[in-house]
Amino acid sequence: MTTSTCEAATSATADPRNPEREECAASYEAHVNPQWVRLMKLLDMDAEYVSCVRETLHTRDGRKILDFLSGYCVYNTGHNHPAIVGALHRELDRSGPLMLQSHISATAGELAERLLRLADASGKRHLGKVYFSTSGAEGVETAIKFSRAHTGRSGLLAARGAFHGLTCGALALMDSGFWSDGFGAMIPGVEFVDFGDLGQLERQLATRRHAALILEPIQGEAGIVLPPAGFLEAAQALCRRYGTVFVLDEVQTGLGRTGRPLAGHHFGLEPDMVILAKALSGGLVPVGAVLMTDVIYESVYPSLRRAIVHTSTYSENGLAMRAGLATLDVIEDEALAGRALSLGEAFRERLRERLARFEMVREVRGLGFFSGIVFAPPRALALRLSFEAFARVHPAMFGQMLVMRLYREHGILTQICGNNFLVLKAAPPLTASEAALDAFVDAMESVMEYVHSSLSFWTDALHLAARAVRI
Ligand SMILES: Cc1ncc(COP(=O)(O)O)c(C=O)c1O
Repeated sequence: MTTSTCEAATSATADPRNPEREECAASYEAHVNPQWVRLMKLLDMDAEYVSCVRETLHTRDGRKILDFLSGYCVYNTGHNHPAIVGALHRELDRSGPLMLQSHISATAGELAERLLRLADASGKRHLGKVYFSTSGAEGVETAIKFSRAHTGRSGLLAARGAFHGLTCGALALMDSGFWSDGFGAMIPGVEFVDFGDLGQLERQLATRRHAALILEPIQGEAGIVLPPAGFLEAAQALCRRYGTVFVLDEVQTGLGRTGRPLAGHHFGLEPDMVILAKALSGGLVPVGAVLMTDVIYESVYPSLRRAIVHTSTYSENGLAMRAGLATLDVIEDEALAGRALSLGEAFRERLRERLARFEMVREVRGLGFFSGIVFAPPRALALRLSFEAFARVHPAMFGQMLVMRLYREHGILTQICGNNFLVLKAAPPLTASEAALDAFVDAMESVMEYVHSSLSFWTDALHLAARAVRI
């Protein structure tokens, strides 16, 4: 089968069955990731999507799914935003130097300028340089190398529960063995503090052995964890006192997601480095960016001899730069950060009202369109026994049952957090309609009603466990 057969297979819409697509899916199962196929089938989420627009995913069999996952915060501007798609078409039509390597990229210069302006809430322009990557993890690797070069120290400090990506350096900054087990030793010299514990942080920083403190301003995969009041501001001040580079990983929280251009803006922060990726792509061409002070940059590239000492083939790719520029245009023109700020707060308030009566809902928290619904084990004996039994089968079982039911019965796509299975994420595109937000609230109430009042939720979970063993 040719690539074009697969393209035709996913674009045709007339036939509810699609043998060509099934053949492509079988190739995926044979040659890409069979376990992923098993998981999608187990969760009944192996739909064929024929078109994705704003927050709505259209399946071949005629269903409409509302996307509240946004590709883990990639789709801040919604799926296939016409302005970004149009800008990419025009860039391709120019037949310009997209991957030349031996030239000075004007679009990279323009995007760097725009990103530095976006980050500069105080007007002090304390950040002056940008390194472009193609993923969030590569941005984290960049922060590790640059902070080491700048300080001459090799230690690194991160927060427990963090998610920073799955390359060896980024993975070393994560204390969850789930992601690192089986891959051997990660980079040495990493230590962890509890997110929010200033005492621990100061004791570590005072040793002056750490090149950088790397934090998500709001921890995403840990369960949409907001920092305690004053923590990030004090962490920044401590970093300055002990000569440690203060790095914000805004790969999920950046670019309007939390209701400000960067989440750090909520706290008036001036980090030494900011890592961006995901949403900068417009969901179309992978791109990341690491913003930093001039002095940090210059410690890596101090002379002509070292002009290319840290680089990567796809850094500054012309299409990626264009996607970034067009994405920033959309975020600014449609005032998406402000929209997320006001609608997000009202959304969480409605969720809190409608879910307050359920004993298993502990809290609804978040900022902007970055929300988490936090569950607690049930107190009622009958529910508790079932809950504990399923947690023993797999700790993510309860959350995955909610995800599955939201998807199957209510046409809502979301996920539980990667490092905290008792938190369900709600992170729709920042362009999502108010009707979609209402649909999520209705669906969530209905699912919780079902969990609390019907034994069949727990019976379904039992069947899922049995299928997981069989498939
Ligand atoms: C906060 C954070 N940092 C870094 C990463 C890694 O990004 P990527 O998957 O693009 O390597 C992620 C990915 O989810 C993330 O959430």
